[in-house]
Amino acid sequence: MDTPLFNAALIPKSVEARLPPGYTIRPLQASDYHRGVLQTLAVLTTVGDISESDFIKRFQYWQDRNDTYYNVVIVNDKDRVVAIGSVVIERKLIHHCASAGHIEDIAVASSEQGKKLGLHLINTLTAIAEQVGAYKVILDCSDKNVPFYEKCGYTHSGNEMVLKF
Ligand code: ACO
Repeated sequence: MDTPLFNAALIPKSVEARLPPGYTIRPLQASDYHRGVLQTLAVLTTVGDISESDFIKRFQYWQDRNDTYYNVVIVNDKDRVVAIGSVVIERKLIHHCASAGHIEDIAVASSEQGKKLGLHLINTLTAIAEQVGAYKVILDCSDKNVPFYEKCGYTHSGNEMVLKF
């Protein structure tokens, strides 16, 4: 239950050093189900009624592909997951079989926003993508989050298109 999803050495020491006292940043663990991970994700969108066995099945799917799915959490001094986000590594043919990182599902608990946790999360996911060989990282966001991602070093590029089922 406490096995990290991926090699924790990929998390930059420089980010760990900048967290508020008592906070830690690490790979997702199956036991995070009991640390409020789903409640934190709910600040982003509808999460649904996910049972522990649903959560563990999805965790195991990611773990079997842990060179592709990197889910990172920040835990506060009360052992609660207060921030979560992921980078997914896509293997392409273009640019001589290059890889691209996709940052997805970033959420910081409402009561913990404004403490730079979002910034530390994005810096970590970006560093992971670079370390595993991605040539770029991309993400979609709403207009209101553009200034946040600009603070994280991202720039506007293209438009998002969607067709929902
Ligand atoms: N508008 C303008 N500036 C912002 C905003 C915003 N909406 N949000 C953060 N910032 C600025 C901060 O003021 C700070 O600036 P500073 O360095 O000058 O002080 C900098 O960005 C870093 O802010 P953090 O404190 O790291 O931001 P926080 O921890 O609150 O996380 C986040 C930001 C992730 C957007 C959070 O508010 C959140 O979870 N929101 C709800 C869910 C959400 O919208 N997630 C992103 C979806 S996009 C995706 O998933 C790819």
